[in-house]
Amino acid sequence: MSEYDFNNFDDFDSGLAVAEPEEAETPTAVDEDDGTQVLVVDTDSAVRDYLTGLIPQGAETVEYLTDAEVRLAAGSYVVLLGPSCSNPESLDRIESWTQAYPRSQSILVTPELTTQLLHKALRVGVKDVVSAPIDQDQLLETIDRIIESIPPEVPSFAPGGAAPVDGEPDMMGRVISVFSTKGGSGKSVTATNLAVALANRSDQPVVLVDGHLQFGDVAVMLKLFADSSVADAISQLDVLDRVMLRDLMTEHAESGLLVLPAPTEPTFADQVSGEQMAQLIDALRRMSAYVIIDLPAIFNDVVLNTIEASDDIILVAGLDIPNIKNVKIGLSTLSLLDIPKERLHLLLNRADSKVKLDVSEVERSLGVDTIAHVPSDVVVPISVNRGSPVVLSAPRSSVARAFEQLAERFIDNKAPGAATQSQGRRKFFG
Ligand SMILES: Nc1ncnc2c1ncn2[C@@H]1O[C@H](COP(=O)(O)OP(=O)(O)OP(=O)(O)O)[C@@H](O)[C@H]1O
Ligand SMILES: [Mg+2]
Repeated sequence: MSEYDFNNFDDFDSGLAVAEPEEAETPTAVDEDDGTQVLVVDTDSAVRDYLTGLIPQGAETVEYLTDAEVRLAAGSYVVLLGPSCSNPESLDRIESWTQAYPRSQSILVTPELTTQLLHKALRVGVKDVVSAPIDQDQLLETIDRIIESIPPEVPSFAPGGAAPVDGEPDMMGRVISVFSTKGGSGKSVTATNLAVALANRSDQPVVLVDGHLQFGDVAVMLKLFADSSVADAISQLDVLDRVMLRDLMTEHAESGLLVLPAPTEPTFADQVSGEQMAQLIDALRRMSAYVIIDLPAIFNDVVLNTIEASDDIILVAGLDIPNIKNVKIGLSTLSLLDIPKERLHLLLNRADSKVKLDVSEVERSLGVDTIAHVPSDVVVPISVNRGSPVVLSAPRSSVARAFEQLAERFIDNKAPGAATQSQGRRKFFG
């Protein structure tokens, strides 16, 4: 008997209807040359049999997470977590897997998918969530994709990780991500100008990462021709040391900013996990005073992990109703992640007198303080097209002054979130 509203296994079976696979095109799910196996975990034997039946090469099965951990300690697995694993206690336990078993990844199978479950699952490191009805081809493709993303060995930036080869102590710089749930709101303009303004003020390295892995345009906005990208850093995480990481970054000559641009191949984004991104951020903050990350306007595993790893999150919003509505939705998702409010800062972009909305009203309704008002000005699109941030190309403009003041707030821990820096943040590396 199943405890998930199914009276018997027949119900479960019909709920998770399987599309008949086309014989010639059935994906493999397991690369025969790869040692990775599929492991099914569920307390209900009918569920275990059902899920195992979806894997042509078969799968190992266990009832409990503790049994699964014995296998994970010994090998590389894609774990299919059945519905009995979707309770909060199980998911909390699974959270430790990413660090404890880096050569295994998991997929959660659920008869019913809620936003809350999806976010919780992604937050604890589950790679994908599959809900009824299950499409077998799609499931097998997902498994194959996950197997490809499993690193060959434990990263050297692992707990208590490799000592920096240059002998310098870790700097543990401040991580600031720039996010918005609305595309085109000005995230990249903000990230590039803030990063350049900080680099101009700081004697220590300042790093800008393009976290918009699919269609990032940080490099274009800074007119940089980079040899390496986030893709190179992520794919070498297992051997990367500080000197190598520095070599992968491109220096912006005018400001000294170190930039890790987005990959030129958009499909790379699918292969990056949130955990890998968090590892990269951790490595970068060890060698810099500030790490600024420009994010895309979506919630995915990479974005959630980046936000969690950040000391400050700048939410960029325009002053119109759709923008404010989107910020509200974003904030409610972030509250699911237990991100402390002190880390969230609102940046109102194109906030000038011609706009009819009352700023203090907006702040009250969102419950987040505004860290900057950036006016609308034609110098911005001109600077974007020139590949030179406003703080350099139009330093006397009111937009440049707004970004300079923003940078100033992060210097010497003046920003509101400063007091909470490093507190309560999920630790990946001890
Ligand atoms: N304050 C401003 N005044 C005038 N134009 C602006 C301003 N801020 C942004 N823009 C314009 O909006 C465009 C989009 O900005 P930007 O690329 O920073 O948005 P984004 O949030 O990063 O977008 P995406 O979600 O696609 O990554 C810019 O090319 C710029 O021309
Ligand atoms: Mg952008």
